[in-house]
Amino acid sequence: MSVDPQELRRVAGHFATGVTVVTAEHEGVTCGLTVNAFITVSLDPPLVLVSIGTASRSLPCVSSAPRFGISVLAEDQESIARIFAGKDDDKLTRVPARRGQTGVPLLEGAIAWLECRSEQRIAAGDHVLFLARVEGLGAGPGRPLLFFHGRYGRLAE
Ligand SMILES: Cc1cc2nc3c(=O)[nH]c(=O)nc-3n(C[C@H](O)[C@H](O)[C@H](O)COP(=O)(O)O)c2cc1C
Repeated sequence: MSVDPQELRRVAGHFATGVTVVTAEHEGVTCGLTVNAFITVSLDPPLVLVSIGTASRSLPCVSSAPRFGISVLAEDQESIARIFAGKDDDKLTRVPARRGQTGVPLLEGAIAWLECRSEQRIAAGDHVLFLARVEGLGAGPGRPLLFFHGRYGRLAE
């Protein structure tokens, strides 16, 4: 049975997720994109996985950088999710950002953040999976931005 990609997107969209922004820097150039394909793979050792489409303009930068950052967006950061879901060259200059302890770019205002060192890149269809070791992390107060049925949402009070 052949599966229509748009149908897969629609059905998979029933799986509600948070929203992250993956950021990196390579040779002085920063990049970033909105990502909800993020999972914690292992606690010990600490491994996470993100999946980035081969059409992503950020892919060469994330692939070349030794590390990348993952910022888990807060419910008031939908505009930031939209910026990083776009195609501008200078996305990181348009939002408040900071450096983590390992030097990776991270977004201010995120409710959690991880600093990750790429360990394996796995080609997977029209995406590349990045399996990475967590080298730094933290979390703060606040509630998450959500994504469901192709739309942003927030937790009910
Ligand atoms: C909520 C949301 C989640 C997304 N998750 C992913 C993802 O997990 N992987 C991916 O490659 N693109 C994902 N995208 C799409 C990218 O953010 C989008 O293609 C972006 O333009 C890529 O930017 P770039 O080409 O500058 O790298 C998502 C978009 C949205 C709105």
